[in-house]
Amino acid sequence: MNSVDRDVVALVDDALHSKLLDYLQGRGWRLHRATNADELARLFEQQDFHVGLLQLHGIGEGTLFDLVGRQQSLQWIALMDPSFLRPTPQHRNFLAGVYDFHTLPVDHGRLSMSMGHAWGKGQLLKQPLSSPGSLVQHGIVGNSPAMQAFCAALRKASKVDAPVLIGGESGTGKELAAHAIHNMSARSNNAFVAVNCGALPTHLIQSELFGHEKGAFTGAHQRKVGRMEAASGGTLFLDEIADLPLDLQATLLRVLQDKVIERLGSTRQIQLDIRVIAASHVNLEEAVAKGRFREDLYYRLNVIHLVAPPLRDRQGDVEVLAQALLDQFSWETGGKVKGFSRQALRAMNQYAWPGNVRELINRIRQGVVMAEHPYLTPEDLGMERRASDAGRPTLDGARAKAEIDAIRSALRRCQHNVSEAARELGVSRATLYRLLERYALSGPYKGKTTPEQRSSTPGTPAAGDSASHLTRPSPPSAR
Ligand SMILES: Nc1ncnc2c1ncn2[C@@H]1O[C@H](COP(=O)(O)OP(=O)(O)OP(=O)(O)O)[C@@H](O)[C@H]1O
Ligand SMILES: [Mg+2]
Repeated sequence: MNSVDRDVVALVDDALHSKLLDYLQGRGWRLHRATNADELARLFEQQDFHVGLLQLHGIGEGTLFDLVGRQQSLQWIALMDPSFLRPTPQHRNFLAGVYDFHTLPVDHGRLSMSMGHAWGKGQLLKQPLSSPGSLVQHGIVGNSPAMQAFCAALRKASKVDAPVLIGGESGTGKELAAHAIHNMSARSNNAFVAVNCGALPTHLIQSELFGHEKGAFTGAHQRKVGRMEAASGGTLFLDEIADLPLDLQATLLRVLQDKVIERLGSTRQIQLDIRVIAASHVNLEEAVAKGRFREDLYYRLNVIHLVAPPLRDRQGDVEVLAQALLDQFSWETGGKVKGFSRQALRAMNQYAWPGNVRELINRIRQGVVMAEHPYLTPEDLGMERRASDAGRPTLDGARAKAEIDAIRSALRRCQHNVSEAARELGVSRATLYRLLERYALSGPYKGKTTPEQRSSTPGTPAAGDSASHLTRPSPPSAR
């Protein structure tokens, strides 16, 4: 029937194996049999499968269940003896996520048909999420009209060398967008150097940006190349540009105009060849109007202005992003979670996502860790109350946005010292940490949180989780 054989992994006993072998081989299936967890693990190392047959009762016990979810696109078909009436919780979890099940003795024709469908679904799931307007190859998922327009603008911006200013709410993907512009540009073989203007200690900013010579100041034990020089030939990403102190704004303006820098402690001028991309979640026009940001620097940076759209304006993207994230996290945790319940999808679509994509990431990561069933519920995502919210915008959403703005301003004023910011906001440190977790606000923050504080946050990933979002992930290239 098929010119190309399709591979199927089979966890079946001897008797069933010999009954299935000839029939399935005759129909273009290549059977790879495993009889225990070690053999299955070995097969998984060798190749990806789209279809698996697993005979419950007699085989498929214990540690095997830890392995069956390992390959995300693998669709399992359970084969059950009719006398198998008392499934264990492990069996039940497995059965909830299977593609199909058959009772023994199998009807060969029906089995072959369901294997064909399962194989097709597995193959579809294996395809990278892609669509004509998207930039999925740069990690940007989403194909809503708002994202298509944004991605088209990123593409255009990557073709020229002019400065770009990226605006947009927290967690909308401004840094990701800056990476995409760099990666699509003629500078992609050189460095992408990110500087978080809000996280640099004031007294170090100059030396971080421009570098210093040995002995330039107390503690300058050796020469240091600054971030601007490190970005030469490549792209300098000035993140949270609104946080740059006013005196340094003047210095930066001069550097951008003259394209030369001097290391601290040296008068030698170093020519710069950099492309500048700046980002800010603060409305810079307002900052200019309030005298907090220099107008001349604003115009110098704002040659191409892009705005990353908030998640609530990306129709249909929540589901696509959620599915892509689920695949990623579920894989990391052994593939026990297969998808979202209908209520969870409804709750996600109704929610206003004040923390945008970063919040979605954190809720799904939390859900995959906490889930007791193969299909995530609103409760797993920490959205139980919101499932019943009707329409948008909600009061909760408005309150959350106001809280996020107040927290970010306080952290900025207190140079990201959580204790001081908490004092200023009139809440305890633990409460502020809880809010940082809830809204998925990125760090780094000064001041330590204890494991007790972290685990006291409802739904917080286990303490020590290396994926903690309180630590800003490093971008792929040099910083
Ligand atoms: N369209 C997207 N597709 C996939 N992942 C995304 C998308 N947008 C954002 N992300 C992810 O969301 C997280 C937050 O993105 P990013 O740090 O770029 O946001 P940001 O706008 O710079 O936020 P902030 O203003 O808080 O600094 C990152 O892990 C990023 O990879
Ligand atoms: Mg950012």
